[in-house]
Amino acid sequence: MTAEVKPKAGLEDVVATSSRICFIDGPRGVLAYGGYDIHDLAGKASFEEVCFLLWNGRLPSRAELGDVTSQLAAARALPEGVLRLMRMLPRVDAMDALRTLTSALAHCDQEANDPAPQAQRRKAIRLTAQTASLVATLGRLDAGGGPIDPDPALGHAANFLYMLTGRRPGALETRAFDIALVLHADHELNASTFAARVAAATLTDMYSAIVAAVGTLKGPLHGGANAEVMKMLLDIGADASPERVEGAIRAKLARKEKVPGFGHRVYRTEDPRATHLRRMSRELGERAGQTAWFEMSQRIEALVLADKQLYPNVDFYSASTYYVLGIPIDLFTPIFAVSRVSGWTAHVMEQYANNRLMRPRADYVGPVYPQRWVGLADR
Ligand SMILES: CC(C)(COP(=O)(O)OP(=O)(O)OC[C@H]1O[C@@H](n2cnc3c(N)ncnc32)[C@H](O)[C@@H]1OP(=O)(O)O)[C@@H](O)C(=O)NCCC(=O)NCCS
Repeated sequence: MTAEVKPKAGLEDVVATSSRICFIDGPRGVLAYGGYDIHDLAGKASFEEVCFLLWNGRLPSRAELGDVTSQLAAARALPEGVLRLMRMLPRVDAMDALRTLTSALAHCDQEANDPAPQAQRRKAIRLTAQTASLVATLGRLDAGGGPIDPDPALGHAANFLYMLTGRRPGALETRAFDIALVLHADHELNASTFAARVAAATLTDMYSAIVAAVGTLKGPLHGGANAEVMKMLLDIGADASPERVEGAIRAKLARKEKVPGFGHRVYRTEDPRATHLRRMSRELGERAGQTAWFEMSQRIEALVLADKQLYPNVDFYSASTYYVLGIPIDLFTPIFAVSRVSGWTAHVMEQYANNRLMRPRADYVGPVYPQRWVGLADR
Protein backbone atom coordinates (compact mmCIF):
# COMPACT_ATOMS: atom_id res chain seq x y z
CA MET A 1 0.00 0.00 0.00
CA THR A 2 1.38 3.42 -0.84
CA ALA A 3 -0.30 5.25 1.98
CA GLU A 4 -0.87 9.00 2.03
CA VAL A 5 -1.38 8.70 5.77
CA LYS A 6 1.77 7.66 7.60
CA PRO A 7 1.44 5.02 10.33
CA LYS A 8 1.45 6.05 13.97
CA ALA A 9 4.43 4.35 15.60
CA GLY A 10 3.09 1.98 18.23
CA LEU A 11 -0.46 2.96 17.20
CA GLU A 12 -0.17 5.80 19.72
CA ASP A 13 -3.51 7.57 20.26
CA VAL A 14 -5.13 5.50 17.49
CA VAL A 15 -8.73 4.67 18.41
CA ALA A 16 -9.09 1.06 17.26
CA THR A 17 -12.51 0.09 18.59
CA SER A 18 -15.48 1.24 20.66
CA SER A 19 -15.90 -0.31 24.08
CA ARG A 20 -18.22 0.02 27.06
CA ILE A 21 -15.83 -1.66 29.48
CA CYS A 22 -13.13 0.76 30.57
CA PHE A 23 -12.67 4.53 30.45
CA ILE A 24 -9.25 6.20 30.74
CA ASP A 25 -8.54 9.92 30.73
CA GLY A 26 -4.74 9.97 30.45
CA PRO A 27 -4.07 13.67 31.03
CA ARG A 28 -6.28 13.72 34.15
CA GLY A 29 -5.19 10.30 35.44
CA VAL A 30 -8.72 8.84 35.46
CA LEU A 31 -9.47 5.13 35.21
CA ALA A 32 -13.01 3.76 35.48
CA TYR A 33 -14.61 0.36 34.87
CA GLY A 34 -18.17 0.64 33.52
CA GLY A 35 -18.16 4.29 34.63
CA TYR A 36 -17.07 3.56 38.22
CA ASP A 37 -13.92 5.37 39.27
CA ILE A 38 -11.06 3.09 40.28
CA HIS A 39 -10.67 5.12 43.48
CA ASP A 40 -14.21 4.07 44.47
CA LEU A 41 -13.76 0.47 43.42
CA ALA A 42 -10.38 -0.12 45.12
CA GLY A 43 -11.17 -1.07 48.70
CA LYS A 44 -14.97 -1.04 48.27
CA ALA A 45 -15.61 -3.65 45.56
CA SER A 46 -14.29 -7.19 45.73
CA PHE A 47 -12.58 -8.78 42.72
CA GLU A 48 -15.71 -10.90 42.16
CA GLU A 49 -17.85 -7.74 42.06
CA VAL A 50 -15.47 -6.23 39.51
CA CYS A 51 -15.64 -9.39 37.38
CA PHE A 52 -19.42 -9.06 37.28
CA LEU A 53 -19.11 -5.37 36.42
CA LEU A 54 -16.69 -6.04 33.55
CA TRP A 55 -18.73 -8.92 32.17
CA ASN A 56 -22.15 -7.25 32.51
CA GLY A 57 -21.50 -3.52 32.42
CA ARG A 58 -23.25 -2.96 35.74
CA LEU A 59 -22.74 -3.70 39.42
CA PRO A 60 -24.32 -6.92 40.72
CA SER A 61 -27.18 -7.14 43.19
CA ARG A 62 -26.39 -9.07 46.38
CA ALA A 63 -27.89 -12.25 44.89
CA GLU A 64 -25.97 -11.83 41.62
CA LEU A 65 -22.73 -11.29 43.53
CA GLY A 66 -23.43 -14.49 45.46
CA ASP A 67 -23.98 -16.33 42.18
CA VAL A 68 -20.82 -15.15 40.46
CA THR A 69 -18.79 -15.78 43.63
CA SER A 70 -20.01 -19.36 43.89
CA GLN A 71 -19.61 -19.98 40.14
CA LEU A 72 -15.99 -18.83 40.34
CA ALA A 73 -15.38 -20.96 43.44
CA ALA A 74 -16.97 -24.01 41.82
CA ALA A 75 -14.78 -23.70 38.71
CA ARG A 76 -11.40 -23.58 40.49
CA ALA A 77 -10.30 -27.21 40.36
CA LEU A 78 -7.77 -27.90 37.59
CA PRO A 79 -8.39 -30.80 35.19
CA GLU A 80 -6.21 -33.81 36.02
CA GLY A 81 -4.61 -33.74 32.52
CA VAL A 82 -3.51 -30.14 33.05
CA LEU A 83 -1.99 -30.96 36.43
CA ARG A 84 -0.13 -33.86 34.84
CA LEU A 85 1.19 -31.64 32.06
CA MET A 86 2.25 -29.05 34.62
CA ARG A 87 4.34 -31.65 36.45
CA MET A 88 5.90 -32.81 33.16
CA LEU A 89 6.96 -29.36 31.91
CA PRO A 90 10.60 -28.49 32.46
CA ARG A 91 10.73 -25.73 35.10
CA VAL A 92 10.80 -22.63 32.96
CA ASP A 93 9.68 -19.05 33.36
CA ALA A 94 6.25 -19.12 34.99
CA MET A 95 4.74 -17.01 32.21
CA ASP A 96 5.92 -19.56 29.63
CA ALA A 97 4.30 -22.28 31.71
CA LEU A 98 1.11 -20.24 32.11
CA ARG A 99 0.90 -19.71 28.34
CA THR A 100 1.20 -23.45 27.64
CA LEU A 101 -1.18 -24.47 30.44
CA THR A 102 -3.82 -21.91 29.47
CA SER A 103 -3.79 -23.51 26.05
CA ALA A 104 -4.02 -26.97 27.66
CA LEU A 105 -7.17 -25.92 29.58
CA ALA A 106 -8.97 -25.71 26.23
CA HIS A 107 -8.37 -29.43 25.63
CA CYS A 108 -10.31 -30.23 28.80
CA ASP A 109 -13.25 -27.91 28.12
CA GLN A 110 -16.01 -29.47 26.05
CA GLU A 111 -17.38 -26.01 25.36
CA ALA A 112 -14.03 -24.64 24.13
CA ASN A 113 -15.30 -24.12 20.58
CA ASP A 114 -18.93 -23.34 21.43
CA PRO A 115 -19.64 -19.79 20.24
CA ALA A 116 -22.99 -19.37 22.09
CA PRO A 117 -22.94 -16.30 24.38
CA GLN A 118 -23.89 -18.36 27.46
CA ALA A 119 -21.03 -20.79 26.75
CA GLN A 120 -18.65 -17.83 26.38
CA ARG A 121 -19.81 -16.58 29.77
CA ARG A 122 -19.16 -19.96 31.38
CA LYS A 123 -15.70 -20.01 29.79
CA ALA A 124 -14.97 -16.53 31.16
CA ILE A 125 -15.79 -17.88 34.64
CA ARG A 126 -13.68 -21.01 34.16
CA LEU A 127 -10.73 -19.11 32.70
CA THR A 128 -10.78 -16.57 35.52
CA ALA A 129 -11.09 -19.23 38.23
CA GLN A 130 -8.52 -21.57 36.71
CA THR A 131 -5.88 -18.97 35.83
CA ALA A 132 -5.64 -18.32 39.59
CA SER A 133 -5.38 -22.05 40.30
CA LEU A 134 -2.72 -22.50 37.60
CA VAL A 135 -0.54 -19.70 38.95
CA ALA A 136 -0.89 -20.74 42.60
CA THR A 137 -0.11 -24.37 41.74
CA LEU A 138 2.88 -23.39 39.59
CA GLY A 139 4.15 -21.49 42.62
CA ARG A 140 3.63 -24.57 44.84
CA LEU A 141 5.51 -26.86 42.47
CA ASP A 142 8.36 -24.37 42.05
CA ALA A 143 8.70 -24.20 45.83
CA GLY A 144 8.85 -28.00 46.00
CA GLY A 145 5.39 -28.48 47.52
CA GLY A 146 2.38 -30.36 46.20
CA PRO A 147 -0.78 -28.78 44.77
CA ILE A 148 -3.34 -27.58 47.31
CA ASP A 149 -7.04 -28.09 46.65
CA PRO A 150 -9.06 -24.88 46.47
CA ASP A 151 -11.20 -23.93 49.47
CA PRO A 152 -14.71 -23.00 48.27
CA ALA A 153 -15.35 -21.13 51.51
CA LEU A 154 -12.70 -18.55 50.58
CA GLY A 155 -13.11 -15.63 48.20
CA HIS A 156 -11.01 -15.40 45.05
CA ALA A 157 -8.14 -13.40 46.59
CA ALA A 158 -7.91 -15.38 49.83
CA ASN A 159 -8.19 -18.70 48.01
CA PHE A 160 -5.33 -17.78 45.68
CA LEU A 161 -3.04 -16.99 48.63
CA TYR A 162 -4.17 -20.19 50.37
CA MET A 163 -3.48 -22.35 47.29
CA LEU A 164 -0.07 -20.69 46.94
CA THR A 165 1.10 -20.87 50.55
CA GLY A 166 -1.03 -23.57 52.19
CA ARG A 167 -1.90 -21.05 54.89
CA ARG A 168 -5.21 -19.22 55.20
CA PRO A 169 -4.28 -15.54 54.84
CA GLY A 170 -5.11 -12.86 57.40
CA ALA A 171 -7.55 -10.02 56.78
CA LEU A 172 -4.92 -7.42 55.84
CA GLU A 173 -3.17 -9.71 53.32
CA THR A 174 -6.49 -10.75 51.80
CA ARG A 175 -7.67 -7.18 51.49
CA ALA A 176 -4.37 -6.01 49.98
CA PHE A 177 -4.36 -8.81 47.42
CA ASP A 178 -8.04 -8.30 46.59
CA ILE A 179 -7.37 -4.60 45.95
CA ALA A 180 -4.36 -5.48 43.78
CA LEU A 181 -6.62 -7.77 41.71
CA VAL A 182 -9.24 -5.02 41.38
CA LEU A 183 -6.58 -2.51 40.25
CA HIS A 184 -5.19 -4.80 37.54
CA ALA A 185 -8.53 -6.15 36.23
CA ASP A 186 -8.84 -4.04 33.10
CA HIS A 187 -7.11 -1.25 31.26
CA GLU A 188 -8.86 -0.56 27.98
CA LEU A 189 -6.80 -1.42 24.89
CA ASN A 190 -3.51 -2.24 26.61
CA ALA A 191 -1.27 -4.46 24.48
CA SER A 192 -2.47 -7.82 25.81
CA THR A 193 -6.17 -6.91 25.61
CA PHE A 194 -5.67 -5.63 22.09
CA ALA A 195 -3.96 -8.92 21.19
CA ALA A 196 -6.92 -10.83 22.65
CA ARG A 197 -9.40 -8.71 20.67
CA VAL A 198 -7.48 -9.09 17.41
CA ALA A 199 -7.50 -12.87 17.90
CA ALA A 200 -11.21 -12.89 18.87
CA ALA A 201 -12.06 -10.82 15.81
CA THR A 202 -11.09 -13.80 13.63
CA LEU A 203 -13.84 -15.66 15.55
CA THR A 204 -11.29 -18.04 16.98
CA ASP A 205 -12.18 -19.51 20.38
CA MET A 206 -11.84 -17.68 23.70
CA TYR A 207 -8.92 -19.84 24.89
CA SER A 208 -6.87 -18.97 21.79
CA ALA A 209 -7.53 -15.29 22.38
CA ILE A 210 -6.45 -15.55 26.03
CA VAL A 211 -3.29 -17.46 25.07
CA ALA A 212 -2.42 -14.55 22.74
CA ALA A 213 -2.99 -12.17 25.64
CA VAL A 214 -0.82 -14.17 28.07
CA GLY A 215 2.05 -14.22 25.57
CA THR A 216 1.73 -10.47 25.09
CA LEU A 217 1.54 -9.69 28.80
CA LYS A 218 4.86 -11.42 29.34
CA GLY A 219 6.89 -8.67 27.62
CA PRO A 220 9.00 -6.38 29.83
CA LEU A 221 7.36 -3.31 28.28
CA HIS A 222 4.00 -4.62 29.54
CA GLY A 223 3.28 -6.93 32.50
CA GLY A 224 6.84 -8.19 32.73
CA ALA A 225 7.85 -4.83 34.23
CA ASN A 226 6.75 -5.69 37.80
CA ALA A 227 9.32 -8.51 38.08
CA GLU A 228 11.97 -6.22 36.55
CA VAL A 229 11.22 -3.62 39.24
CA MET A 230 11.84 -6.10 42.04
CA LYS A 231 15.04 -7.37 40.43
CA MET A 232 16.24 -3.76 40.27
CA LEU A 233 15.40 -3.15 43.96
CA LEU A 234 17.16 -6.38 44.97
CA ASP A 235 20.21 -5.48 42.85
CA ILE A 236 20.50 -2.15 44.64
CA GLY A 237 20.05 -3.98 47.96
CA ALA A 238 17.75 -3.51 50.95
CA ASP A 239 20.50 -1.93 53.03
CA ALA A 240 21.65 0.52 50.33
CA SER A 241 22.27 4.10 51.46
CA PRO A 242 20.23 6.88 49.82
CA GLU A 243 23.43 7.88 47.96
CA ARG A 244 23.82 4.37 46.56
CA VAL A 245 20.18 4.31 45.41
CA GLU A 246 20.66 7.67 43.73
CA GLY A 247 23.92 6.55 42.10
CA ALA A 248 22.34 3.36 40.74
CA ILE A 249 19.36 5.18 39.21
CA ARG A 250 21.43 8.03 37.80
CA ALA A 251 23.82 5.50 36.22
CA LYS A 252 20.87 3.66 34.67
CA LEU A 253 19.45 6.86 33.22
CA ALA A 254 22.89 7.95 31.98
CA ARG A 255 23.16 4.63 30.11
CA LYS A 256 19.77 5.51 28.55
CA GLU A 257 18.24 2.44 30.15
CA LYS A 258 14.60 2.51 31.09
CA VAL A 259 13.74 2.38 34.76
CA PRO A 260 11.14 -0.39 35.02
CA GLY A 261 7.82 0.67 36.51
CA PHE A 262 7.93 4.23 35.14
CA GLY A 263 6.22 5.92 32.23
CA HIS A 264 3.01 5.10 30.45
CA ARG A 265 1.70 5.41 26.94
CA VAL A 266 -1.60 6.95 28.07
CA TYR A 267 -1.17 8.59 31.50
CA ARG A 268 0.54 11.95 31.57
CA THR A 269 0.18 12.22 35.31
CA GLU A 270 0.19 9.68 38.13
CA ASP A 271 -1.26 6.32 37.19
CA PRO A 272 -4.28 6.17 39.54
CA ARG A 273 -3.50 2.53 40.33
CA ALA A 274 -0.05 3.50 41.60
CA THR A 275 -1.68 5.71 44.26
CA HIS A 276 -3.26 2.65 45.91
CA LEU A 277 -0.29 0.36 45.42
CA ARG A 278 2.05 2.93 46.98
CA ARG A 279 -0.17 3.00 50.08
CA MET A 280 -0.38 -0.79 50.20
CA SER A 281 3.38 -1.16 49.82
CA ARG A 282 3.85 1.17 52.81
CA GLU A 283 1.15 -0.43 54.99
CA LEU A 284 2.27 -4.00 54.32
CA GLY A 285 5.93 -3.07 54.72
CA GLU A 286 5.24 -1.44 58.09
CA ARG A 287 3.26 -4.42 59.29
CA ALA A 288 5.95 -6.86 58.22
CA GLY A 289 8.74 -4.67 59.64
CA GLN A 290 10.22 -4.52 56.11
CA THR A 291 9.96 -0.88 55.08
CA ALA A 292 13.28 -0.82 53.17
CA TRP A 293 11.68 -1.67 49.81
CA PHE A 294 9.01 0.98 50.17
CA GLU A 295 11.52 3.61 51.25
CA MET A 296 13.85 2.78 48.38
CA SER A 297 10.92 2.87 45.96
CA GLN A 298 9.95 6.32 47.18
CA ARG A 299 13.50 7.58 46.64
CA ILE A 300 13.55 6.17 43.13
CA GLU A 301 10.16 7.73 42.43
CA ALA A 302 11.41 11.18 43.46
CA LEU A 303 14.58 10.81 41.36
CA VAL A 304 12.85 9.64 38.18
CA LEU A 305 10.17 12.31 38.50
CA ALA A 306 12.74 15.07 38.97
CA ASP A 307 15.05 13.81 36.23
CA LYS A 308 12.69 12.50 33.56
CA GLN A 309 9.25 13.84 34.58
CA LEU A 310 8.04 10.26 34.57
CA TYR A 311 5.52 8.90 37.08
CA PRO A 312 5.35 5.38 38.49
CA ASN A 313 2.94 3.05 36.72
CA VAL A 314 0.96 0.09 38.05
CA ASP A 315 4.05 -2.12 38.10
CA PHE A 316 6.27 0.00 40.30
CA TYR A 317 4.70 -0.32 43.75
CA SER A 318 3.03 -3.65 42.99
CA ALA A 319 6.56 -5.13 43.04
CA SER A 320 7.31 -4.24 46.67
CA THR A 321 3.69 -5.00 47.64
CA TYR A 322 3.89 -8.57 46.31
CA TYR A 323 7.40 -9.07 47.67
CA VAL A 324 6.35 -8.15 51.20
CA LEU A 325 3.35 -10.47 50.80
CA GLY A 326 5.93 -13.25 50.32
CA ILE A 327 5.09 -13.88 46.67
CA PRO A 328 8.02 -15.21 44.58
CA ILE A 329 9.22 -12.76 41.89
CA ASP A 330 8.68 -15.32 39.13
CA LEU A 331 4.94 -15.13 39.91
CA PHE A 332 4.58 -11.34 39.74
CA THR A 333 3.67 -11.22 36.05
CA PRO A 334 1.49 -14.37 36.19
CA ILE A 335 -0.41 -12.67 39.03
CA PHE A 336 -1.09 -9.75 36.69
CA ALA A 337 -2.73 -12.37 34.44
CA VAL A 338 -4.73 -13.77 37.39
CA SER A 339 -6.50 -10.43 37.52
CA ARG A 340 -6.40 -9.25 33.90
CA VAL A 341 -8.03 -12.44 32.59
CA SER A 342 -11.30 -10.92 33.85
CA GLY A 343 -10.82 -7.93 31.55
CA TRP A 344 -9.50 -10.02 28.66
CA THR A 345 -12.58 -12.25 28.72
CA ALA A 346 -14.89 -9.22 28.99
CA HIS A 347 -13.26 -7.69 25.90
CA VAL A 348 -13.36 -10.96 23.97
CA MET A 349 -17.11 -11.27 24.67
CA GLU A 350 -17.64 -7.64 23.65
CA GLN A 351 -15.70 -8.29 20.44
CA TYR A 352 -17.77 -11.39 19.61
CA ALA A 353 -20.99 -9.48 20.25
CA ASN A 354 -20.21 -6.85 17.60
CA ASN A 355 -17.49 -8.30 15.46
CA ARG A 356 -15.59 -7.23 12.42
CA LEU A 357 -12.26 -8.82 11.43
CA MET A 358 -9.34 -6.57 12.38
CA ARG A 359 -7.10 -6.26 9.38
CA PRO A 360 -5.16 -2.99 9.14
CA ARG A 361 -2.70 -2.03 6.41
CA ALA A 362 1.04 -1.42 6.40
CA ASP A 363 2.90 1.47 4.84
CA TYR A 364 5.19 -0.40 2.44
CA VAL A 365 8.81 0.81 2.76
CA GLY A 366 10.58 -2.17 1.12
CA PRO A 367 12.41 -2.37 -2.26
CA VAL A 368 10.72 -0.43 -5.05
CA TYR A 369 8.05 -2.35 -6.92
CA PRO A 370 8.47 -3.95 -9.40
CA GLN A 371 11.87 -5.60 -8.96
CA ARG A 372 13.22 -7.45 -11.99
CA TRP A 373 13.04 -11.21 -11.38
CA VAL A 374 16.50 -12.86 -11.39
CA GLY A 375 16.63 -16.64 -11.74
CA LEU A 376 18.41 -18.70 -9.09
CA ALA A 377 21.37 -19.45 -11.37
CA ASP A 378 22.07 -15.74 -11.91
CA ARG A 379 21.88 -14.53 -8.30
C1 LIG B 1 5.44 2.01 29.30
C2 LIG B 1 6.30 2.46 28.14
C3 LIG B 1 6.56 1.27 27.21
C4 LIG B 1 5.53 3.54 27.37
O1 LIG B 1 6.34 3.84 26.36
P1 LIG B 1 6.12 4.81 25.13
O2 LIG B 1 4.87 5.58 25.22
O3 LIG B 1 6.34 3.99 23.91
O4 LIG B 1 7.29 5.81 25.35
P2 LIG B 1 8.77 5.60 24.84
O5 LIG B 1 9.32 4.29 25.20
O6 LIG B 1 8.79 6.00 23.38
O7 LIG B 1 9.51 6.71 25.70
C5 LIG B 1 9.44 8.12 25.47
C6 LIG B 1 10.66 8.75 26.12
O8 LIG B 1 10.60 8.57 27.54
C7 LIG B 1 11.69 7.78 27.99
N1 LIG B 1 11.17 6.79 28.94
C8 LIG B 1 9.97 6.17 28.90
N2 LIG B 1 9.84 5.32 29.93
C9 LIG B 1 11.01 5.41 30.60
C10 LIG B 1 11.48 4.78 31.75
N3 LIG B 1 10.73 3.88 32.39
N4 LIG B 1 12.70 5.09 32.20
C11 LIG B 1 13.47 6.00 31.57
N5 LIG B 1 13.07 6.64 30.45
C12 LIG B 1 11.85 6.34 29.99
C13 LIG B 1 12.21 7.06 26.74
O9 LIG B 1 13.56 6.70 26.85
C14 LIG B 1 11.98 8.12 25.68
O10 LIG B 1 12.97 9.08 25.81
P3 LIG B 1 13.60 9.82 24.51
O11 LIG B 1 12.43 10.51 23.87
O12 LIG B 1 14.61 10.71 25.08
O13 LIG B 1 14.13 8.72 23.66
C15 LIG B 1 7.64 3.02 28.64
O14 LIG B 1 7.41 4.12 29.51
C16 LIG B 1 8.49 1.97 29.31
O15 LIG B 1 9.19 1.22 28.61
N6 LIG B 1 8.46 1.88 30.68
C17 LIG B 1 9.23 0.90 31.39
C18 LIG B 1 8.53 -0.45 31.33
C19 LIG B 1 7.26 -0.45 32.15
O16 LIG B 1 7.24 -0.04 33.29
N7 LIG B 1 6.21 -0.99 31.56
C20 LIG B 1 4.93 -1.15 32.23
C21 LIG B 1 3.89 -0.27 31.66
S1 LIG B 1 2.39 -0.30 32.58
